[in-house]
Amino acid sequence: MIKINKGKRFQQAVDAVEEFLKKGKGKDQDLTIPESSTVKRMMTGTVAGFKWPQSVSEPVKDGDPHFHHFLLSQTEKPAVCYQAITKKLKVCEEETGSTSIQAADSTAINGSITPTDKKIGFLGLGLMGSGIVSNLIKMGHTVTVWNRTAEKCDLFIQEGARLGRTPAEVVSTCDITFACVSDPKAAKDLVLGPSGVLQGIRPGKCYVDMSTVDADTVTELAQVIVSRGGRFLEAPVSGNQQLSNDGMLVILAAGDRGLYEDCSSCFQAMGKTSFFLGEVGNAAKMMLIVNMVQGSFMATIAEGLTLAQVTGQSQQTLLDILNQGQLASIFLDQKCQNILQGNFKPDFYLKYIQKDLRLAIALGDSVNHPTPMAAAANEVYKRAKALDQSDNDMSAVYRAYIH
Ligand SMILES: NC(=O)c1ccc[n+]([C@@H]2O[C@H](COP(=O)([O-])OP(=O)(O)OC[C@H]3O[C@@H](n4cnc5c(N)ncnc54)[C@H](OP(=O)(O)O)[C@@H]3O)[C@@H](O)[C@H]2O)c1
Repeated sequence: MIKINKGKRFQQAVDAVEEFLKKGKGKDQDLTIPESSTVKRMMTGTVAGFKWPQSVSEPVKDGDPHFHHFLLSQTEKPAVCYQAITKKLKVCEEETGSTSIQAADSTAINGSITPTDKKIGFLGLGLMGSGIVSNLIKMGHTVTVWNRTAEKCDLFIQEGARLGRTPAEVVSTCDITFACVSDPKAAKDLVLGPSGVLQGIRPGKCYVDMSTVDADTVTELAQVIVSRGGRFLEAPVSGNQQLSNDGMLVILAAGDRGLYEDCSSCFQAMGKTSFFLGEVGNAAKMMLIVNMVQGSFMATIAEGLTLAQVTGQSQQTLLDILNQGQLASIFLDQKCQNILQGNFKPDFYLKYIQKDLRLAIALGDSVNHPTPMAAAANEVYKRAKALDQSDNDMSAVYRAYIH
């Protein structure tokens, strides 16, 4: 069944489905697995041989824990797991008008993706871009890469990518060009700078910015791209380096709806889920809010661990207690384990979570909404940056409390 490799946890999840299907064979003839499908076919509801259980006609609500549960647990309650997958194999029209395509689930069931025949470009081979490009290539896409530091392209050329000499050249030779660079300044330089993206835009060319930036930046980029006849989508991602390598990112997209759909095989390759959030700027705002919550939570974890230490409490026992309670999560466990082991290798750079807090606070300012928690967390990250922790993982915020 499985024809591709989306990482160890993903493989374990697939094994769990296969095991369940073996056990369940003959018990329920209606639950047939489709031979193949693409997101487009899911959207039109024409998946041959696949009958939705009654409950899947209900929209998937935010926070539905089932799919996550499925990924993490291989043996418990297989019936629930199967239900969770089928629930996610659909486009969800939310009351807010946003739409989500639960893309990687189709991979879990089919083990294959039908890659678009469009030529794909990718600019920015950092922690995130590297994993994304590897997965695009693995899933059969034709990819041309460019990176400011050219040597980072070598590995991908060996994997089968083509080399673009400038961003403009990549855009002019590809149908859809993605970019994932550090911050608003980098995103603008890449488009507006010499031999930049804009030089390659012609009518019909597509540009997808996956960097985490503010709404004003993406709106400005969208305007210049569209003014040259191009099509624009913003698509920042929630995740980290490991999830990027595993093709398990969560993609938040907004802008050109048709382009979002044209990107479906790419989003399936790089992510487990994608959401379409409407007009340009919405994905940037939502991404900053998500990262504001994550960054504040990380700082609170560091504060708790250090308070435990100075009051003579075991940090390991604190983690054990948290892991048994309702706050238990992979994020909490991994970050605490890494801190206790003194491992601050970047999975998500501290400098970027501080950038996201700063931009989220500015977003709050723009609508006169208070963000005191984010502001307090931001101060701690600024202190960590002053202690030379920028290029460590965000969990190095811990060091701001012990110096
Ligand atoms: N890491 C995560 O866990 C994570 C998760 C979600 C979202 N994000 C967001 O994703 C984006 C990329 O993150 P990352 O972790 O991949 O960062 P990274 O490893 O630091 O990579 C940054 C990339 O941007 C390029 N770049 C920087 N300034 C540039 C400029 N002026 N012109 C052209 N290229 C430029 C870098 O090129 P060089 O190689 O030449 O330096 C590199 O390719 C950021 O917006 C970040 O906030 C990151």
